[in-house]
Amino acid sequence: MTKQDPSKFFDRGHAAAYDQRWAGMAAINDAQHLLLKAILSGLGSQARVLCVGAGTGAELLALAAAFDDWHFTVVEPSAGMIEQCRRRAEAAGITDRCTFHEGFLDSLPEMAPFDAATSILVSHFLVDRDQRKDYFSEIARRLRPGGLMINSDLASDMTSPQYEPLVQHWVSLHRWVGLETKTDHLGREVALLSAEAMQTLLIESGFVCPTLYYQALLIRTWVSQVPE
Ligand SMILES: C[S@@+](CC[C@H](N)C(=O)[O-])C[C@H]1O[C@@H](n2cnc3c(N)ncnc32)[C@H](O)[C@@H]1O
Repeated sequence: MTKQDPSKFFDRGHAAAYDQRWAGMAAINDAQHLLLKAILSGLGSQARVLCVGAGTGAELLALAAAFDDWHFTVVEPSAGMIEQCRRRAEAAGITDRCTFHEGFLDSLPEMAPFDAATSILVSHFLVDRDQRKDYFSEIARRLRPGGLMINSDLASDMTSPQYEPLVQHWVSLHRWVGLETKTDHLGREVALLSAEAMQTLLIESGFVCPTLYYQALLIRTWVSQVPE
């Protein structure tokens, strides 16, 4: 099967408008970043973090501001998104602590194992389960023993009676912050997995103890570890 390239959704026009477009969701992102910082705070000094699909740099900037001696490797296939990310990293004065890789994770040169990885709102674009498993397995392979991965994705059990109400609330959220959203792409262009299915996928990809710790309607965030 041809490799999916979801970065095509993030062309230069989208990239330039991205931060402004999603500004109304700041409270959700702030909560995400608060928890991300707290969970990763145990890594200690000089940690090396892999940010996959970092987009315009939201999680990179949040972590870099909180941990001033950490190094970040940014992997981002969209030229427009990584341009914005670099621009924001320069403005924040953190480029000396960043390595930027424009491309997918499988083309990142081999480097020392990472202490942690983030994949925030990325993997749901991989609707083919095998490709999604390859994606998570490659992240697991790049982590040191005991290394952590935080992944946040759109997710839901589409067969549950709560699914339709949840989607309606999702639409309401978008309207409330001044955005329109379609719903017919859910489960087709964007994979929605139940908590059980996601847990199984993460374990099959090489992680232990995947733990769901945050949910905002269709967004669910997990922390997992590679074995010690
Ligand atoms: C919704 S944005 C999220 C960006 C950022 N993580 C955030 O939370 O603001 C998804 C990003 O993932 C990137 N992406 C899509 N597929 C990817 C893949 N297979 N590997 C790495 N990045 C990918 C896209 O180019 C895009 O920048």
